[in-house]
This record gives sequence, C-alpha cells and structure tokens, in this order.
Amino acid sequence: MSHATAIKKDKIFFHDLHTPTASMAKDVHSGLSGKQKSLPPKYFYDKKGSELFDAITKLPEYYVTRTEIELLKQYVPEMAELLGINSYLLELGSGSSIKIRLLLEALRPEIYVPIDISREHLIASSQRLIQDYPWLTIHAAYLDYSHPWAVPDFGPGRYNAFFPGSSIGNFDPANAIQLLKQISQLVGRDGGLLIGVDLKKDVGILEAAYNDSQGVTADFNINLLTHINDGLDADFVPENFSHKAIYNEDKGRVEMHLECNINHSVRIESNLYPFQTGETIHTESSYKYSIDEFHQIAAEANFAPVEVWTDADELFSVHYLKVG
Ligand code: AVI
Repeated sequence: MSHATAIKKDKIFFHDLHTPTASMAKDVHSGLSGKQKSLPPKYFYDKKGSELFDAITKLPEYYVTRTEIELLKQYVPEMAELLGINSYLLELGSGSSIKIRLLLEALRPEIYVPIDISREHLIASSQRLIQDYPWLTIHAAYLDYSHPWAVPDFGPGRYNAFFPGSSIGNFDPANAIQLLKQISQLVGRDGGLLIGVDLKKDVGILEAAYNDSQGVTADFNINLLTHINDGLDADFVPENFSHKAIYNEDKGRVEMHLECNINHSVRIESNLYPFQTGETIHTESSYKYSIDEFHQIAAEANFAPVEVWTDADELFSVHYLKVG
C-alpha cells in the first residue's frame, strides 16, 4: 500500500497520488492554438464554478441529477444485493452528494475510496461522511482520474466502483473506453461498476437542459474564462463571449461553446490569441448513449452488463456492469 497520511485516527487515510502531467498554461495554450479553439472542461470547477454546477443540478430543466437520485432511491436495495455487502467501494468524484450516502447506507462497505482532483473537497467530504458513518474507514485518493492512475491495493475482497452523474459523458468515446478499462483493471476479476449514463432523447429536452431559462449554465460556461484569468496572467473579457449549447446529432453529444461577439485578441502570459466575431471556443461535450451503445463501449473495456435501471420517461440510466 502506498504511503498514506492519517487524518482521523484509523478512520480517514489520505493518499496523495497526484502527478500533475499538464498545467493550466499548457492546456490553455494547446486548446487555443487549434483550428477549432477549445478549453478543457475540468477548468469549470473553481470554487465559483463548483457552486454554479451545484445550482445547475437543482434546475428544473436539468433532469440529470434529479432522475439519477430517484433511480438510486428506488432501486438501491436491488443494487446493494448485486454489488454485495461488505465490499470495497471506490467512487470517482467524491462523496458530497446524497447519491453516495444512499449507497453507503445500503452497502455498508468495509472501505470507501473517494477519488478526486480537489484536495479540499476530498478532505472536507470525507470528514463529513465519517461524522455520519462512524463505522466506515475512508482511504481518500487525491488524483486526476482523467489521466492514467492507480490506487492502492487493499488486499483480497470484492471491489466495486461507483461513477455517477453521467460524468463518463464528458469523455469522448475513445477516452471513455480508456477510463473504463482502468476501472475494470482496478476492480479486478470479481469486480463491478455502478455507473450513471445519460440517455439519448428528444433534442428539445437535451438543449433545454444546457440552456436553462435562468442562465445558470451560461454563467457556469462563462466562469471558465474568469478562472483562466485568475489562474494565468490572462485578459479575457467575459462580456465578449456568449454561451451556446447545441445537440450535435451526428456525434450524439451536447456541445457547449463560448461564442465570440466581437473581433479582438486575448493576451495570455506572453501569447496573443486572435478571436473573430462568430467563432467559438468548444468548452464541453456531453455524450448521450442508448443502452445498447453504452453496452458496446463497456464491452470494449471488458465490462459485461448485469442490470440497467431507467425511469419511466427513459431520461437516464444506471448500469451495473461486471468485469469479464
Ligand atoms: C458533470 N457533467 C456530467 C455535466 C454534464 O451534464 O455533462 C456538466 C454540465 N455541463 C453543463 N451542465 C452540466
């Protein structure tokens, strides 16, 4: 097992597994140098961006979070039976939400391993969980799961991973397969994965979810520029850009863009990036899958379907997959 720092005696262990392979400066430079400019969606989540995302999850148009929680509430006993009680539970993203609490209460795993790129969030949410679940042991793994990663081996046992929110949809299919492969290696031969996946549906419902009437998603998208201004020596003027979200039918994904309103240049450190009126920065893709399409992706990562739960309107799916 890797070196771990105990945060709360015998209850929370902190594993610093973060190996920064990219920096914001490099990511931003490479994204703005291409023909179609782009910026990585992971930079949405500074403090303000995380608060805005939290607000998005409560919007009437954003059915994703609400529907997944309803599915978990309804089917968690069935899910727990399939995952097996007393297992080891890993979560990609870390346990601040009601979703992991539903699962922890039903499963009562020996060890819970939250994996997150935000050190503060990881520690704060682990401390909150231990207060409420004193029977739990937490091994918090600080790492960026969008790059190759590994977590400590906790010895023999049944390993399951939980990847909610349809966050898998923010990876393009090739990278989604890579990430699922990593998860399948991590949970091993007897292991499984409980994963939330947003479904293909009526374009009107999809586009409304990413163009909400209160403009919260627009603020979330535009805040990316403020985060880059804060993180780098950059002079983006947020008012020079507008939020745009469309469903790209061919690619099966909602695309978020920042559309430039005026010809101008942006200085970032020693570089100057020209922007033309009407050109866009692609900031996020959110892939939507039919159940069969997702099973195909999962099969490429050595996962076989065991069960899938959907709501009556077929907005969202939660899959349980097993290795092999
Ligand atoms: C985090 N992720 C699953 C969200 C999504 O729906 O793709 C991020 C988001 N972007 C705009 N609204 C929500």
